[in-house]
Amino acid sequence: METVYLNGTFLPSAEALISPNDRGFLFADGVYEVMRWYEKGFLAAQLHQNRLKRSLHEIRLYSAEADKFLSIAGELISRNNLEGQQALVYIQITRGTAPRTHQFPLPPVTPTCYAFARAINPEQNESILGVNVGLVNDIRWSRCDIKSIALLPNILAYQEAVEKGFHENLFVRNGVITEATHSNIFYVRNGKVLTHPESVYILSGITRKLVIDLCCKLNIPVEERAISSDELPYVEEAFLTSTSAEVLPVTHLEGVPIGSGLAGPVTSQLQIAFREMVEREIQTV
Ligand code: PDD
Repeated sequence: METVYLNGTFLPSAEALISPNDRGFLFADGVYEVMRWYEKGFLAAQLHQNRLKRSLHEIRLYSAEADKFLSIAGELISRNNLEGQQALVYIQITRGTAPRTHQFPLPPVTPTCYAFARAINPEQNESILGVNVGLVNDIRWSRCDIKSIALLPNILAYQEAVEKGFHENLFVRNGVITEATHSNIFYVRNGKVLTHPESVYILSGITRKLVIDLCCKLNIPVEERAISSDELPYVEEAFLTSTSAEVLPVTHLEGVPIGSGLAGPVTSQLQIAFREMVEREIQTV
């Protein structure tokens, strides 16, 4: 059985019990992080830990568990025999268990920390052939930079994508594409790589950052500029980035080809460079 981590203990998942008064359950009062395991090491572990700490800071929650994230993650990989496999580690920290009231618990209670690791099978075909995406209204709050567990708008938007046969939905806020329901979006136009700037309207993706760094190394011009949904038909290429999908070509918008309708040359170059970077950079534990 899967071994998970809950509040300082590694235990079988069936024994990991959380109170219904947990503020994560009652209010979605918490944050989370997702990090990728590549057979023998984590990618960008420090960046994920830093983002977890930032998310906690932004919701005014202090948890010593954030300092232990990397050791908890490594332990979950070995206890679940995931060495040699591809996996994701998920960690969630909530404001703890207390009788339901909107204000922070007084006196403060210990935050709840839950983490698990799970094997993944990256989809090879999609990363070669590319995917079809849709557009949806961005009804989220204006702190999308916090990796909050309150994901209802993302879930509704993604469910709509699934039901329409799209791989992802792109959020549109005031005519501008911000990001996708669980990934960031990039475009190539006039030889330049474009993506929405860091702001309160997107999650600052770790993969997004790694891809921008790769563009700089490869001398591919990057501009952090949002594009409007009206500009989308004119881009030459588009791709999604996320911890689980890495660099994923977007070849169609609601069934209409983007550019050639095939994974573009810049996207393919970045996919190869990303793979090479993974080989170089993964930190063995
Ligand atoms: N999702 N934007 C949103 C809204 C996300 O939820 C994610 C990640 C990203 C990409 O971030 P990164 O490159 O750091 O994975 C962008 C995670 C994986 C999830 O919710 O499972």
